[in-house]
Amino acid sequence: MARKFFVGGNFKMNGTVASIKEIVKNLNDAQLDPNAEVVIAPPALYLPLVRESLRKDVEVAAQNVYNKPNGAFTGEISVSQLLDSGATWTILGHSERRTILGETDEVVAAKTKFATENGLGVIWCCGESLDEREQGITVDVVSKQLAALKAQVSDWTRIVIAYEPIWAIGTGKVATNQQAQEVHAAIRAWLRKEVSETVADETRILYGGSVNEKNCRDLAKETDIDGFLVGGASLKPAFVDIINSTQ
Ligand code: G3P
Repeated sequence: MARKFFVGGNFKMNGTVASIKEIVKNLNDAQLDPNAEVVIAPPALYLPLVRESLRKDVEVAAQNVYNKPNGAFTGEISVSQLLDSGATWTILGHSERRTILGETDEVVAAKTKFATENGLGVIWCCGESLDEREQGITVDVVSKQLAALKAQVSDWTRIVIAYEPIWAIGTGKVATNQQAQEVHAAIRAWLRKEVSETVADETRILYGGSVNEKNCRDLAKETDIDGFLVGGASLKPAFVDIINSTQ
């Protein structure tokens, strides 16, 4: 089965009502590849604004979600609240949440399980630090993150994997096509061995880390790169070129 090209825009903690309205207008006016699945993730505060004003063929994601039903969890947002606001996806396990907010592999896996079982798609992120890459343990690190996910998740149909080497995030230092392809192929091989042929063949594996309108076309040609999770460039008009990178 051909995997549908997937492009996510992670706005992180950026934007104002005015700037987000401008991004939405730009996407609404653009010609987007009808063969690409596009999802944007504004800060939670702006989800209803984005969902109400954005074209319907682009989906909306949160950047995080809690793994409990509504209740006494001050500061958190639930899966049902996201669905109620029209979000259909969430990002989970971004390295900024793992390293700055202290989310462990197990917490990320528990959130992924709860979100997927309750109807949200999950863009599940993994990736190594510069130190880990230099030690030559990239695939071990990513395999350990995947193993923690597998320990809790049995249905992979709502999961998209984003490989984001930490050293490439926001640094302008993109992984080479070969570096990215190697890890994507290793992730797919892991899925084939540890989960199933079908999950390996059908799961989209996105690359994230300094993707821009100049490097996206070549990266998109790699066999195991099924799309991108874009940070900084998703706030700019050039995001449209990244969405259209396989055209
Ligand atoms: O989730 C996207 C991301 O971390 C990459 O950010 O700014 O390097 O594209 P950026």
